[in-house]
Amino acid sequence: MKYSVLLLSTALGAVTALGLSTGSVAAKGKLNYYCSAQEDWCQLMAKGFEKETGIKVNMSRKSSGETFAQIKAESRNPKGDVWWGGTGDPHLQAAEEGLTVSYVSSLRGELNDWSLSQAKSADDKTIGIYSGALGYGYNSDLLAKNNLPVPACWKDLLKPEYKGHVQMANPNSSGTAYTTLATIVQLFGEEEGFEFMKGLHKNINQYTKSGSAPIKAAARGENTIGIVFLHDAVKQAVKGFPIVSVAPCEGTGYEIGSMSLIKGARNLKEAQMFYDYALRADVQSRALEVKAFQVPSNMGAKTSSKAPSLSSIKLINYDFGKYGSSAERKRLLKKWDDEVKTLAK
Ligand code: F6P
Repeated sequence: MKYSVLLLSTALGAVTALGLSTGSVAAKGKLNYYCSAQEDWCQLMAKGFEKETGIKVNMSRKSSGETFAQIKAESRNPKGDVWWGGTGDPHLQAAEEGLTVSYVSSLRGELNDWSLSQAKSADDKTIGIYSGALGYGYNSDLLAKNNLPVPACWKDLLKPEYKGHVQMANPNSSGTAYTTLATIVQLFGEEEGFEFMKGLHKNINQYTKSGSAPIKAAARGENTIGIVFLHDAVKQAVKGFPIVSVAPCEGTGYEIGSMSLIKGARNLKEAQMFYDYALRADVQSRALEVKAFQVPSNMGAKTSSKAPSLSSIKLINYDFGKYGSSAERKRLLKKWDDEVKTLAK
């Protein structure tokens, strides 16, 4: 009996203490944070911000296209406050469709031009937080085991020997895969580009939801070649897996990973605080803790010698205005669904 009274009072004490601390966190506000980068980086950002400000962060991680679709579906009753990460194209589409709002951070002077040009093209409704080039990676053990040739170009991926050995994400859900589709169309022209996508389809073993899944599968030995951003391939190599990155010989596209404030955000002040936090050099430098090797938008942020060097890659002049526009993104995705995805293999 005595014991249970003691236990009860201890428990009540704990509840009171918890109540007080929950109350104080609540007093500092909360933030509904939509994240479209890698889960570990999303978490690091959420925890860092929560620790520094006491603001309670509710995080939800989904791929770029999926997050865009969610924000659009919720637009009459927005649930998210800030969208951090993911490729720039759907952020630009969200800006054009009035799903996000303008904000000018006092940290702008510290940012690279490519980050600011993203903002300029969208009335400050989005901004670049990192960039990275597209390509692919392969598992060198599996390639050797299956006696496959070493690929170096986009067109190599059409070789019949690679049937069932190539994986990419679905461009509807994934920003990586949409960047791939838009890159191929820009490199080869629309007609030849779609012929390429149809040829590639024959070799694809699976279209995943998330853009980086194909290279994670390759790292686990479950897939041979993954079409991904090069920094995602490098991450697996740095973790010790037998992954080799390829910057395709014909040239390649790139992303401007972006951030936007959601229209109708219930916690706008907190969202703006997060926005400023995410642009800081010390915060962007922390990406290296989770082996995120994108190029940071803050010029003062630390980079790693392991990161893919964009200056040594043949980059196309990716037309973000066109491929981030609502009409073009919708049109290309529909065409891919109608003409590629449904093709028999
Ligand atoms: O965080 C890794 C990353 O490749 C980012 O560089 C990119 O913006 C994002 O993932 C794209 O993810 P998804 O293709 O799943 O939309």
